[in-house]
Amino acid sequence: MISINNLSKTYATGFRALKNINLEIKRGEIFALLGPNGAGKTTLIGIVCGILKPSEGTVTVDGHDIIADYRAARSLIGLVPQELHTDAFESVWATVSFSRGLFNKPKNPAYVEKILRALSLWDKKDNRIMTLSGGMKRRVLIAKALSHEPQVLFLDEPTAGVDVELRKDMWQVVRDLRASGVTIILTTHYIEEAEDMADRVGVISKGEIILVEDKAELMHKLGKKQLILQLQKKLDVLPPALAAHNLTLAKDGTELVFTYDTQAERTGVTAMLSALSAADIRFRDLSTTQSSLEDIFVGLVSER
Ligand SMILES: Nc1ncnc2c1ncn2[C@@H]1O[C@H](COP(=O)(O)OP(=O)(O)O)[C@@H](O)[C@H]1O
Ligand SMILES: [Mg+2]
Repeated sequence: MISINNLSKTYATGFRALKNINLEIKRGEIFALLGPNGAGKTTLIGIVCGILKPSEGTVTVDGHDIIADYRAARSLIGLVPQELHTDAFESVWATVSFSRGLFNKPKNPAYVEKILRALSLWDKKDNRIMTLSGGMKRRVLIAKALSHEPQVLFLDEPTAGVDVELRKDMWQVVRDLRASGVTIILTTHYIEEAEDMADRVGVISKGEIILVEDKAELMHKLGKKQLILQLQKKLDVLPPALAAHNLTLAKDGTELVFTYDTQAERTGVTAMLSALSAADIRFRDLSTTQSSLEDIFVGLVSER
């Protein structure tokens, strides 16, 4: 649906915000772009949506070049911007209807009603936007972005500052959109959201895409498991006999932590337990933890 080729962006200040980005977004997927603040997420979205000019490279949206074929490309896209700025004095209904008009779409009150209802904004349709809460304003931005029935929706940190309850509603709306065939690209630094929602995940750091992976595959590949053994007796140091095993001493010597790869042919759990037994180290309880997408993400970004 979107093809980004050798894209770079240098701002007027000389700062290179994007460095040779290559990325393909598939039709109908939810793609989560993860990255710390300043990584270049908003810049990338700005270019695809035609708000910023690329310095190098090309982007097509459903085959339409975003520069040569601007109108066609832009009409396919809805953007929910990161910054909250809306026409404070207008009503919800007028704002959303006006946005649709900007794309030369014929009036369709039934459609506008449908999206306002889906976003739980129907009972606020006659309210001025300035009277709404932050979370509601965010949903008005989503309604605006959807007003012209786009095939691609960009959500740039849509849930920043939105409370948990509303967030759930918003994600339901996003899921419904995907079910209706809309391609969705969202940026977030709430990793749980990407973990929940995304089909694929891309990680961007310092203007470079450092990884693009099927979410399930990513969790599978990089997912490490830890086995935590609570010891009966405190250890001051790890006995040399156990050095060959991937063990570390934790909690002041009261726990041993064994890290292993769940995908490996041999996890080493059996050998490690035999070695513990041979060294006469006893434990009173054990538990396991599995790394989340957050651990994986933090690991990847800090490695750089
Ligand atoms: N107009 C601008 N002029 C110069 N630098 C900018 C401008 N806009 C953004 N930047 C810089 O580009 C980098 C990427 O910004 P941005 O795309 O907003 O990152 P993100 O959305 O991932 O937080 C940041 O270092 C930011 O300071
Ligand atoms: Mg941003």
